[in-house]
Amino acid sequence: MTQKPYVVDELISAKSIAARVEALAKEISTHYADTDKLVVVGLLRGSFIFIADLVRELDLPVEVDFMEASSYGNAMESSREVRILKDLRGEIAGRDVLVVEDIVDTGYTLKHVLEILGTRHPRRMEVCALLNKPSRRETDVQARWIGFDIPDKFVVGYGIDYGQRNRNLPHIGAVRFTD
Ligand code: IMP
Ligand code: MG
Repeated sequence: MTQKPYVVDELISAKSIAARVEALAKEISTHYADTDKLVVVGLLRGSFIFIADLVRELDLPVEVDFMEASSYGNAMESSREVRILKDLRGEIAGRDVLVVEDIVDTGYTLKHVLEILGTRHPRRMEVCALLNKPSRRETDVQARWIGFDIPDKFVVGYGIDYGQRNRNLPHIGAVRFTD
């Protein structure tokens, strides 16, 4: 796709992310201390680095599964229509499920995913989102654990893309157009 020229201004350093992931993992480990085996569901593709770092800090037996949902009509605007592109491999009935999302923006993606997973009767279901844009919310979904609240900026890095670019940045930055 064609993109206007842009630069990425650092918003959250790799060091800050690592410290926050460690703190979240401690809270999550305490919360699920009595759980048999937690199913951690990563929403592809944006959460792949976050989930990799998070599960390695969890002091718990976990199973990892993935789901891919698409909500973006174009690279920057949510279409508000969510499609499931890849479903879980495993069963979640009667299980504790932690859904891991990169960003909660309008909330439509998460709402749709939670509705689908809810029909499969998990025992409990919670959400851990790395980033949250509260000012953009159009739905009532809530993440129990949030890495960082951020302003209404389009961000990239640490797994998150702009038109499939910049996922491999170690920090999180805001896209700024230069012309
Ligand atoms: P929502 O359905 O509007 O909440 O959008 C959620 C999804 O849109 C996230 O999981 C991201 O994949 C994507 N998204 C939202 N904001 C951004 C952003 O600033 N940069 C890159 N992707 C984003
Ligand atoms: Mg996403």
